[in-house]
Amino acid sequence: MSRILIVYYSRKGENYWNGSIKNLSRGNTEIVAEMISELTGGDLFEVDTVKSYASDYYTCIDEAKKELREGARPELKQYMDNLDGYDTIFVGYPNWWGTMPMAMFTFLEHYDLNGKRILPFCTNEGSGMGGSERDLKQICKGAKVENGLSIHGAEAAGSRGKVETWVRKFV
Ligand SMILES: Cc1cc2nc3c(=O)[nH]c(=O)nc-3n(C[C@H](O)[C@H](O)[C@H](O)COP(=O)(O)O)c2cc1C
Repeated sequence: MSRILIVYYSRKGENYWNGSIKNLSRGNTEIVAEMISELTGGDLFEVDTVKSYASDYYTCIDEAKKELREGARPELKQYMDNLDGYDTIFVGYPNWWGTMPMAMFTFLEHYDLNGKRILPFCTNEGSGMGGSERDLKQICKGAKVENGLSIHGAEAAGSRGKVETWVRKFV
C-alpha cells in the first residue's frame, strides 16, 4: 500500500506573528504538519539546514532575501534515502519572500518526483501561497501539484477544521 509523507520546513525562534514579533517554541508550519500526520497517519520528515538562520527576525529576513536573490540551495542536515513507496507527498513551508524557503528547493530537487502527487501547504502572515505553487510545478518534474492550503501562521493551532477539510479532498 502506498504510504503518505509529510515533509516540511519550519523555523522556531522570533517570527512576525499577528502584527508583532513573538518567540515561537514550535514553528507554525510544524503545528500544521503534525495535524496532517495525525489526520492521515502519514510519516513526518523535517527539512533542516546545516547553517541555522538567525533567531532574530529581522536578521533572518535579510538572510532569506539574500538566498532568494542568489537562488541559493542551502545544505541540509539530512535527506530521506528515497521516496519510494510514497505516492502522496504533503509539502509544508512558511511563505518566505513570496515563495518557499530555499531549503525546500534543495530538498525537492534531490529526488525524482515523477508520478508523485504533491499537496502544498503554506503558513504565512498574509501573502498566502505566493508564487510557491508555480515554483513547485517547475521543480517537481512529472509530478501533479494540487492547489495548496494557505494558513495564517498565527492561527495555525486553531486551524484543524480547515486543515481537515482540505486533507479530506485528497486522502
Ligand atoms: C524570512 C521570512 C520571510 C517571510 N516572508 C513573508 C512573506 O513574504 N509573506 C508573508 O505573508 N509572511 C512572511 N513571513 C512570515 C511567515 O511566513 C510566517 O510567520 C510563517 O507562519 C512562519 O512559519 P514557521 O513558524 O513554520 O517558520 C516571513 C517570515 C520570515 C522568517
